[in-house]
Amino acid sequence: MATFNAPLGDNEITMKTGKGNYNEHALLQARAIEPALALLPDLSSHASISIVDYGCSQGSNSLIPLKALLSTLPANSTVSLTLNDQPFNDWNTVSRTLHSREDEITRGGDLKLILNISPNSFYNQVIQDASVDIALSWSALSYLQHYLPTPPFSSLPEMVTRRKQRNTAQAHIDLINLLRLRALEIKKGGYFIATLGGMKEGDGGENIASAPTTYAMMKALQDLVAAGTMTTTQLLGMDPPIHERTVTELRGSLDSVSDLWTIQHISTQTIIHPAWDSLQASQKSEQDYKEYAESIVDWVFSAFEWYIIKGLRVAEEEKGPRKPVTDEERMVLDDLIERCKKYVREEFKDLPCQVEYLYFKLVRN
Ligand SMILES: C[S@@+](CC[C@H](N)C(=O)[O-])C[C@H]1O[C@@H](n2cnc3c(N)ncnc32)[C@H](O)[C@@H]1O
Repeated sequence: MATFNAPLGDNEITMKTGKGNYNEHALLQARAIEPALALLPDLSSHASISIVDYGCSQGSNSLIPLKALLSTLPANSTVSLTLNDQPFNDWNTVSRTLHSREDEITRGGDLKLILNISPNSFYNQVIQDASVDIALSWSALSYLQHYLPTPPFSSLPEMVTRRKQRNTAQAHIDLINLLRLRALEIKKGGYFIATLGGMKEGDGGENIASAPTTYAMMKALQDLVAAGTMTTTQLLGMDPPIHERTVTELRGSLDSVSDLWTIQHISTQTIIHPAWDSLQASQKSEQDYKEYAESIVDWVFSAFEWYIIKGLRVAEEEKGPRKPVTDEERMVLDDLIERCKKYVREEFKDLPCQVEYLYFKLVRN
């Protein structure tokens, strides 16, 4: 498999673009971690442990599995914890989050915590050779390494198909590369445990990840193009280098590195946004639907807003996260967010916001 063309640059993402406080809104990602808790190893025979979390964002969700993992360590053990994410991640919030909850992590001072941050793409080696016991990654491995050129197309359906082919091929290459890098860092016998957003097998409409927000976003973006607020070129510039794999694709990539890794577990699970459960338990009043729309649209924008900004900057020299969000960009984003909420309330309020998740646990050979 190969890419259609040379990559266009690093997939420099940031979850910090103003509107979205990722820690507050990443509720579905927090739920997606829960089924993985059963995969965490027992550490009761360790006196020291080295853990890396790849793609930690603002850090709050990382603490869920971390606390479960560390609960089995003997008292007075030493924990070296490295949090990895992209250089433009919101590292201030990571630091505040971790320090404000240090007591919980160390079980009230029962454990010695050595905290490191790693502002580096996980498509590089980010930690020294054979130094990690447990690698973790939550909702981060669907991000591809690079922006990719738009494949040639003559119609919208053709573009969707070709984009999917392009991303499927690239995701396979990227995951193999990533697993080879992690194999350098993780000790023999060490674990790599991860969850990632995926896709059900097949081609039906049920495959649309988080259908209500995706459909609402498509309609809202079309409105902005029709109103002249956004050009078609900007719309195409929003093509995010993210690929939701099927479990068959995941297995294919893992099988390609069987010399380095043994698969101990692969599974899938549909994860539903907690706001959907709250809606089902409610009277389903206008206010309840409004709250559902608010929660799921804020959720999507807290992780996805960056790609909208990137698209708006398609014709500019400085497209990256070095440049803060301008007032003009903020206005477009706010308009888009309000339209998305309106479309969810008016047309998609009875669709569950859910994502198919993939789970794996690997052991380093
Ligand atoms: C959806 S968030 C998940 C955050 C958190 N792990 C959780 O479970 O809520 C994905 C994170 O992966 C990070 N990420 C994406 N590509 C990355 C890369 N190449 N290297 C390191 N982090 C990356 C993003 O910056 C983002 O913070």
